[in-house]
Amino acid sequence: MRNLFEDIEPDNRSDNSGEGAVHPGNTLNDLTGKEWIKATKSWLVCDSRRYHQNRDTELHPARYPEELVAEFVRFFTTGDGWVLDPFCGSGATLVAALEEHRNCIGMEVNRHYVDLSLDRLQAKARDTRTVTDVVHADAREIAAPGTWERVEAVPREEDGLPRFDFVMTSPPYWNMLRKSRGGVASTHKRRAAEGLATDYGDHERNLGSIEDYDEFIEQLGVVFDGCARLLKPQKYMVVVVQNVRVPEGYVRPLAWDLARRISRTLSFQGERIWCQNSKRLGIWGYPTTFVPNYHHHYCLIFRQQD
Ligand SMILES: C[S@@+](CC[C@H](N)C(=O)[O-])C[C@H]1O[C@@H](n2cnc3c(N)ncnc32)[C@H](O)[C@@H]1O
Repeated sequence: MRNLFEDIEPDNRSDNSGEGAVHPGNTLNDLTGKEWIKATKSWLVCDSRRYHQNRDTELHPARYPEELVAEFVRFFTTGDGWVLDPFCGSGATLVAALEEHRNCIGMEVNRHYVDLSLDRLQAKARDTRTVTDVVHADAREIAAPGTWERVEAVPREEDGLPRFDFVMTSPPYWNMLRKSRGGVASTHKRRAAEGLATDYGDHERNLGSIEDYDEFIEQLGVVFDGCARLLKPQKYMVVVVQNVRVPEGYVRPLAWDLARRISRTLSFQGERIWCQNSKRLGIWGYPTTFVPNYHHHYCLIFRQQD
């Protein structure tokens, strides 16, 4: 088999890890050829102890691991790039971006999570070259210049809007956090017993409180149309989402429906599947009915083609 990398001259971003060199024509990231190829495998597992220690703590009812974000931030940006998360929750995207020396702005409608994210960022040893901030706003207004007027940290273009190199986020999974699935030891029940938040609150602008499924998809579409306006040409957006099984016993293909809706404004480039390999199995349909234990999420990848 031909070695794809043998005729590549290293540039000054080559490293000492034995992973090879950065291609001089690489405009997307700072990865060597070997690192690039590894990051294109269509599934990945992020099961570090650090994530599990935080997963069911007071932080947030539905957070993703910083390792997952770091994997995508390294692939879709170069050092000092600008990252956006319109549903920032506990700030996982911002923390990971900061650790990777990328600038990152989060948006969040729930004041509690805005403050939590800011506290987490403050607790990190600050990289003084890197900008991070969290905007308390409804993500449906992400492409309204007024939303950005008070955000001094981020440079704006003539139209009053900032531009980003990468968007990484995970929206509410419809109203699923509000529905107990009745499992014997569900996370929902465990968190409720411990007095921890089980959903994103009753805020009227919380998209996770929309009951009508089609309306929910459309409102998420508004957010992602806005994100598309803020993405620089040829840059990428990753949306982490699952298909969901409703208590009535059927599956809503949320990931697929959302991929179709977002494809109106951005080009769908495929998915990577985040596998949760060490999550506890629930007993759902046994012994009569097939009910999946959904232990994977779709990381849907879109590109701004303009
Ligand atoms: C799946 S969580 C994001 C979790 C985050 N990725 C993390 O790891 O912590 C979705 C977040 O979207 C927020 N949210 C819901 N509706 C919103 C809206 N209209 N604008 C901005 N944020 C919203 C919720 O409060 C919640 O924190």
